[in-house]
Amino acid sequence: MRAIVVTDQAAGTAGMTLVERPQPPAAINDVIVQVHASGFVPTEMAWPSTWTDRRDRDRTPSIPGHELAGVVSALGYGTTGLSVGQRVFGLTDWHRDGTLAEYAAVEARNLAPLPGDVDFTVGASLPISGLTAWQGLFDHGRLQAGQSVLVHGAAGAVGTMVTQLARERGAYVIGTGRAADREKALDFGAQEFVDLENDALEDVGHVDLVFDVIGGDIQKRSARLLRPNGTLVSVVGPPEARPANGLIVDFVVEADRTQLTEIVHRVRDGRLRPNIGNIATLDDAITTLNSPQRTKGKTIILIHP
Ligand SMILES: NC(=O)c1ccc[n+]([C@@H]2O[C@H](COP(=O)([O-])OP(=O)(O)OC[C@H]3O[C@@H](n4cnc5c(N)ncnc54)[C@H](OP(=O)(O)O)[C@@H]3O)[C@@H](O)[C@H]2O)c1
Repeated sequence: MRAIVVTDQAAGTAGMTLVERPQPPAAINDVIVQVHASGFVPTEMAWPSTWTDRRDRDRTPSIPGHELAGVVSALGYGTTGLSVGQRVFGLTDWHRDGTLAEYAAVEARNLAPLPGDVDFTVGASLPISGLTAWQGLFDHGRLQAGQSVLVHGAAGAVGTMVTQLARERGAYVIGTGRAADREKALDFGAQEFVDLENDALEDVGHVDLVFDVIGGDIQKRSARLLRPNGTLVSVVGPPEARPANGLIVDFVVEADRTQLTEIVHRVRDGRLRPNIGNIATLDDAITTLNSPQRTKGKTIILIHP
């Protein structure tokens, strides 16, 4: 099969090559998915799991990309719940070869059925951003109706999902980002917008929840805005702030079939709008993933269009 591989951590996405690789075998409880569309998060190149296995041994050349939409082409020993020919989408194991390939081996429990009226491009855009937003707001942030949420990077892939899910829950959303993001953040449902380069973040007053995709100084300043018993949820690595009044949680998104199903229902009925940026074919993927331009949402690579 054709696949994109990386071998050199220092080179990052510039070190990607499109090569021939053997098709993966289906292990116990796996399915093999013929990948139609693959999502990619650029920071994957910095994650240890891209380079080493669970025992910290070199696993290069590794295939990046950890979200997919496609069709089940084979079942592993003992696999139940999904069948050959079924449309699926989901998040694949960080330590295994990923989805920038014609086929991927995935534990069946990491996938959910993709309804026939949701196209593969949309399906591949949802797993990481949608699940991260869902888990950050509801599992870790315990968001309640009537609370206020400060959503950093509100025009980005994760931020647009956070904004929409928080609004649906009945929260008041203040989005942040760069000046050029204002319109998009408001369009996705933010009720206020803070341009982090020109406005004073502190002017937003106090909030119940901060959803941080930026870290550093922005995280430290945001921690000071928490109401008593508020929560700062971060997805950018070990916390750098220590809120005086509340809690800080940093987490890595997990696969969850029930939550994927909730997310795709919302896409079908219009409650959740995907945020898709560049779309490229596998042949153009390396050029697209190395583009110096700002990303405008989730980058999707069409593998079997
Ligand atoms: N732990 C997890 O499970 C998990 C899951 C998903 C994502 N993540 C992480 O979350 C981060 C965001 O992911 P994403 O897919 O949403 O990325 P994205 O689509 O690029 O969105 C991030 C947004 O934040 C903006 N931003 C970043 N730094 C900023 C700053 N200093 N001031 C103003 N705006 C700023 C970005 O603008 P620019 O593009 O101009 O910088 C962009 O609009 C990434 O670091 C990713 O690795 C973690």
